This record gives sequence, C-alpha cells and structure tokens, in this order.
Amino acid sequence: MKAKYILTLLPFVWACTNTTQKMKDELGPKMAVDVHSYALPNESKVKHLDWDANLDFETKTLRATATLFLTNSAAATKLVLDTKALNIESVTSASGESFNFALGEEDDDLGRSLTIDITPEVESVSIQYTTSPTAEAVQWLDSVQTADKKAPFLFTQSQAILARSWVPIQDSPGIRFTYNAKVKVPSNLMALMSAENPTEKSKDGVYFFKMEQPIPAYLLALSVGDLEFRKIGERAGVYAEPSVIEAAAFEFEDLEAMISAAEGLYGPYQWDRYDLIVLPPSFPFGGMENPRLTFATPTILAGDKSLVSLVAHELAHSWSGNLVTNATWDDFWLNEGFTVYFEQRIMEEVYGRDYSEMLATLSNQGLKQEIAEMTEGGNAVDTHLKLALAGRNPDDGMTSIAYDKGYLFLRSQEELVGREKFDVFLKDYFTSNAFKVMTTEEFILQLEDKLYRANEIDMDRDNVEAWIYGPGLPADAPQPSSDKFDLVAQQMIAFIDGTSAAELTTDNWSSHEWLHFVRAISSDLSVDKMAELDKAFGFTKSGNSEVLAAWLEQSITHQYTPAYARLEEFLINTGRRKFLMPLYKALILTDEGKEMAKAIYAKARPNYHFVSYDSIDELLGK
Ligand code: BES
Ligand code: ZN
Repeated sequence: MKAKYILTLLPFVWACTNTTQKMKDELGPKMAVDVHSYALPNESKVKHLDWDANLDFETKTLRATATLFLTNSAAATKLVLDTKALNIESVTSASGESFNFALGEEDDDLGRSLTIDITPEVESVSIQYTTSPTAEAVQWLDSVQTADKKAPFLFTQSQAILARSWVPIQDSPGIRFTYNAKVKVPSNLMALMSAENPTEKSKDGVYFFKMEQPIPAYLLALSVGDLEFRKIGERAGVYAEPSVIEAAAFEFEDLEAMISAAEGLYGPYQWDRYDLIVLPPSFPFGGMENPRLTFATPTILAGDKSLVSLVAHELAHSWSGNLVTNATWDDFWLNEGFTVYFEQRIMEEVYGRDYSEMLATLSNQGLKQEIAEMTEGGNAVDTHLKLALAGRNPDDGMTSIAYDKGYLFLRSQEELVGREKFDVFLKDYFTSNAFKVMTTEEFILQLEDKLYRANEIDMDRDNVEAWIYGPGLPADAPQPSSDKFDLVAQQMIAFIDGTSAAELTTDNWSSHEWLHFVRAISSDLSVDKMAELDKAFGFTKSGNSEVLAAWLEQSITHQYTPAYARLEEFLINTGRRKFLMPLYKALILTDEGKEMAKAIYAKARPNYHFVSYDSIDELLGK
C-alpha cells in the first residue's frame, strides 16, 4: 500500500522537488527564526522597496505607497509583513487590481501582521497607507525643538523593530532589500535617507533616493529639516542645521583618517559615501549607523573632538552590522561587540594606544557595574552574550553586555592567538560574509575553522562557550588599564586626604581623565567638598556632555543643589536615553527626588522620542 502510494506519486514528487529546488535557490538558504517579526520569508520574501511618500507636518503623518518586489517559493500563498499603527488603505497589483489582505491581532511590541494573499507568480504588491501621528520610529519636532528654531524637523529611528511603524515591511534583520524612494516635503526643507543623498535643497521639496546595496529594515532612515551640507573630505561630509554646521565640520575633521584606518584594518568601505547628520538634541541615541548617513546626537559636539569615538563606532558598523548582520536580536552582540572592538582599533590607529585604553577602561567600569546590577537583580541570564529575548522587546538587549562584554570576548581571542592572526581572521570574516546574516552558532563554527584550525591551534571550546552562553565575565577576561587614569586616581586620593581642589595636578587632562575623576567621587564626599570641586573645575558649567552627565548624577547622589538648575535644563533639552536614565534613576532613590523627577518629566516628556519616553515611563511607573 505504502509502496504503491509512493510509486504513483513519484512523477509528481519529482516535478515538485525540481521547482521547489529552483525556488529555494532563489530564496536562498532557510532563514533563522526571528521571534520579533511576523514575516515568513521562506514563503515570500521582499527583495526591493519602492517608496513614494508625502510628509504632512500639520497632521504629523506620512501618506505613502510602498511597492514591494518579491521572491516567492513555488507554493507561496501569502506575503506576511510587519506593521505597527499603520492605517492600511488598500493593497493593489501593478495593474491596479486589489489583493485580499488581513491585519492580525495587535501585540504591544510587535504590532500587527499584514497578510496579503498572493500566488507564486505575483512579482509585486503596492500598499497605500498612512502612518499614525504617534508612529514610534518617527519624531516630529516643532521649530522650537531644533537648534535654529526656524523650521520643523523630522527624523526616524528604526532599530530595533520600529521600521514597521512607518513602512509595512518584513522587519527582520535577516531580510535584506534594495530601495528607491520619492519623498515630498515642505519646499524650505531638505530630505535625507540611508541612501544616495542630495547636498542641496530642491526647489519643489521633492527628493529622489536610491539604495543599491541590500539592507535590512532596521537601517531604513529618513530625516527632514532645514539642513545644510559641508564637505569634510573626498567621500565624507556632514549635514546639520545652519547654526551647527561649522562646529560639526570642525568636530569631525578626522573623518577621512578614520575611514582610511578602518579600511586598512578590515578591507574596503563598501557603501561609497560616508556622511553624518547632526540631529536636534532629542535624538534618543548617541549615534545610529544608518548606511551612508550616520545619525548623531549634537551632544558629541564638545568643541575639542573628545567624543569622536562615537563616530568611529558608527563608521565601524559599516562592516560589523551593516555588512555582516546579526540574524536575530538574540545575536545582537555580533553587531555591537564587533563594532566596539573595531571602534577601539580605529581609535588606536588614529589617536594611539594610550588613548584607546582610556576608552576601554571607562567602558569596562560601566560593564562591571551593570553585570553586578543584573546579577543582584536576578537577571543573570541577561549577562549572556547570546540573548533570549522571545516575548520581550529587543530593546531589552541594548545593555553593555552586547557592547562591552562582546568587546572583551573578541579582545580575549586577539590576545590568545595574537593580533596578526586575529586581524587576518576578521578581515576574511567581513569579506566572506558581506551582505549576509550571521548567527552566534555559525560564528563559533567559523571561529573554530578559520581562526583556530587554520592556524593549527586548539580552540578552548569550554572557554568560548563560557563567554557566549555563560553569565558575567570569565576569570581570564582581559583587563584594560591606563597609566593616565592611575594618575587621576592618585589626585582623587590626594583631594580626599586634604589637598585643596585648586592645588591638584590636573594639567592637560583630557575629558576622559575628567570623566574618570568625576566617576571616582565617593558617595560620602561632603556637599562642601562637592562645591569646592565645582568652584575649581566648573563641572556644572561643563560643555562636555559626558562629564556633565556624570557630574549631574553625582550632584543628585550628594544632593548638591547648586547643580539642580542645570540638571533640569539638561533633562528638558536632551533626549539621549543613555544620559537620561541614570539621572532619573538617581533622582527616584529619595522621596524628594521622586517628586522632582516627576515635575521635570512633565515638562521634558514632550521633547523626547518614543525610545526614551517609553523607558522613562516604565521607570517612573507612568
Ligand atoms: N546601533 C546602535 C544604536 C541602537 C542599538 C539603536 C539598538 C537601537 C537598538 C548604535 O550603533 C550605538 O551603539 N550607539 C551608541 C553609541 C556608542 C556605543 C558609541 C549610543 O547611541 O550610545
Ligand atoms: Zn553600535
């Protein structure tokens, strides 16, 4: 019976396997499961997006048509997309016929699936839709919230899973597509995307974009404002509002040197141009590696180039992340750990080892503190490099584990085999996996094969697995250290032992040394001593955002009230979550502080992007 059944079906099975094989080749290898996307790429996968959008600052909405070009399996019956708070008006074919579609149930983090009935022959679908005024990726700023206070501004932040709030798309890091866009904005504004960009305003406010290298949805980006372009080098430049452009061009003067250093380390830059845009202060991150156009916070414009390691970081993502991409958000360390490692190497090339070791020491302090907090809070699983974010927001993975533990792990590998061999491995890793996805498991296989076996060295698998699948830091973790910081620590001891602040030896300290000094202020230092430090060194007036944020946190801890006006001003005018969270956290430790936090937050919240107010709402129990 069974044999007969098989025999009769044989020709059919053969025919099917053949087509399936062919389709499978087109679709590429089977994709790792991404629990943060509804997409079913093994059935139908987006390969190109044509996006036609109109911006309306009055209603704070985008009205757009997204035409998606597909690669289908032989048996495809549906295309599944991710959406969040999108108003889908219709789904049509190139010839204008309607497709059946259905929106799935709403999930707080993931939004709603959009399922479109298709047949394997369908090459494209066009979706007409509008965004919600509260679209989570998008921040619509009034002119008062910009540097020049003359024109409104818009920017998006798609990573990790917010692209779906402005484009119906397969919002999974493993799915790449090329895109073209036509965007209409008010004619006094310039529009920019993570694509080939204009350098001047158009007359009619219409802009055309082209991104020929395939990218995942989290790298889709748009920014619109009263912007100017300034060339920095042959293939690098900066965009900013007119009043900021000069400072920005100065701060990023070393950009070409950084690009050359990066290429010298790990191979050619693959994205043609590298430009930066300095956004208004509500940008919730330090930087975001949108391809061809890094988005950056104005808080890195310190006036002395002291915070440009952030640029090295975002530039490094042009290899780690944008070329070789984490398959899912559980593999986030592959993006960020590699990037911090690469960032460090660029900084070492351009500014020297002493300098980069100061940076490594600062991050290591933060890492140790965060590991201790997570472990005490019963969240030791979150200290594993490989994360388990199913059922949670991938944003929860944005901790120093992915960044700084990831960095230390790679540094430990470098120290084990020697820099020369490690660099050969990394260069090949970025080249042979370019425009592909990477899982943690595949990375371990490649590490074993191409770093260890190729060099006839035994890989200590237990150690590698302890780093990746185990908690905290293994005992053999590298220990960054800095002689310069040792001198800073001595000055702090001298101060505590009675040397007056004015008499301390602080000549030629860089802002990193100052940051180290401020962090080293012990919790029992008296308010008078705080005042003495402030008088001698002007911390409350500091123009360096890192030093200022650290000082304001100390001011809260020590109830040093003369800094409170500046604290309030900073919280209202800066939207960078990395600075906001520790300050609000420090405030809510006391009843008085909690009241103050709530009062300030009421004024500040309208200035924040979703990413920041979502975290602070949770912190303040809103
Ligand atoms: N890609 C990240 C920002 C990000 C991560 C946004 C996860 C959303 C979800 C970016 O490259 C980054 O790491 N920014 C850091 C910069 C720093 C480590 C130099 C930031 O913004 O603080
Ligand atoms: Zn990063």
